[in-house]
Amino acid sequence: MIICATIAELKAELARRRGQSPNGLIGLVPTMGYLHEGHASLMRRAADDGAFTVVSVFVNPLQFGPNEDFERYPRDLERDAALAEKNGAALLFAPSVAEMYPAKPLTRVLISEVTTKLCGASRPGHFDGVGTVVSKLFNLVQPGRAYFGMKDAQQVAVIQQMVNDLNIPVEIVPCETVREPDGLAMSSRNVYLNAEQRVQALVLSRTLGDAGKLLTEPGMTASRLVAEATARIRTAPLAEIDYVELLTYPSLHPLDPDLPLAETDAQLILALAVKFGATRLIDNRLFQPT
Ligand code: PAJ
Repeated sequence: MIICATIAELKAELARRRGQSPNGLIGLVPTMGYLHEGHASLMRRAADDGAFTVVSVFVNPLQFGPNEDFERYPRDLERDAALAEKNGAALLFAPSVAEMYPAKPLTRVLISEVTTKLCGASRPGHFDGVGTVVSKLFNLVQPGRAYFGMKDAQQVAVIQQMVNDLNIPVEIVPCETVREPDGLAMSSRNVYLNAEQRVQALVLSRTLGDAGKLLTEPGMTASRLVAEATARIRTAPLAEIDYVELLTYPSLHPLDPDLPLAETDAQLILALAVKFGATRLIDNRLFQPT
């Protein structure tokens, strides 16, 4: 596996290697590093597609708010390189902030509506930073496919919207959320949790599991489902709820709170963001129309 820290090296390597995979496909897995099995599953998916797999590791300052964890976001490039190589990556692109933003960028990719709900509401400007850096990575790598995890379902919806609106020639491949054996969705931020928070964090995946059963109860409505989910999360004393929302997916429209869910024919998402101490965890589950 080749490691490139500069755009010049990346371009030179891609020029040499483009067309090296049997089907000519370049697959991009954008990440912020501190890689885990969730990231690895995206790389394996790209490798399964026969792609020449490029993994980017870049903690993008543009998508962090002023009081967020940009500085203390976990970083370990050596470990990341080993994990990427083991999971079939052919090239790791790990630029510095100065390499990606040599001067203050005056251009942003702004995606509206789908960015105003959920994490977009809690983290103003976050998805502008994501859209901008993902556009840059698409332009630099020019992949045929890019792989994103449904753990960040809103991010998938936002990127798909951007690709549609701007006719970006990249196929977005959504990949399932990978979980720890006890159900906790894998996240680079899980390392922040202390033992007690780690146990209580299971309330997220448990709530999503329970919601699957609640949904089939006769007469279940959006407002009742959200109330039930909220009550379950509140059973964890350390949990501080940021949001619990049931919306359509991928458009992220609110539902009539009193309409029986059996009468909706849209795909739905139950999305959770919960803080344990300073650590904010997200998880979600999609429900297909009945
Ligand atoms: P990061 O949080 O590192 O995640 C990189 C990719 O891995 C995202 O597509 C994310 O959804 C996916 N991922 C994370 N945890 C996962 C899990 N448990 N199962 C499956 N996939 C998982 O998302 C970002 O970085 C950034 O916003 C980025 C897109 C790189 C732009 O900076």
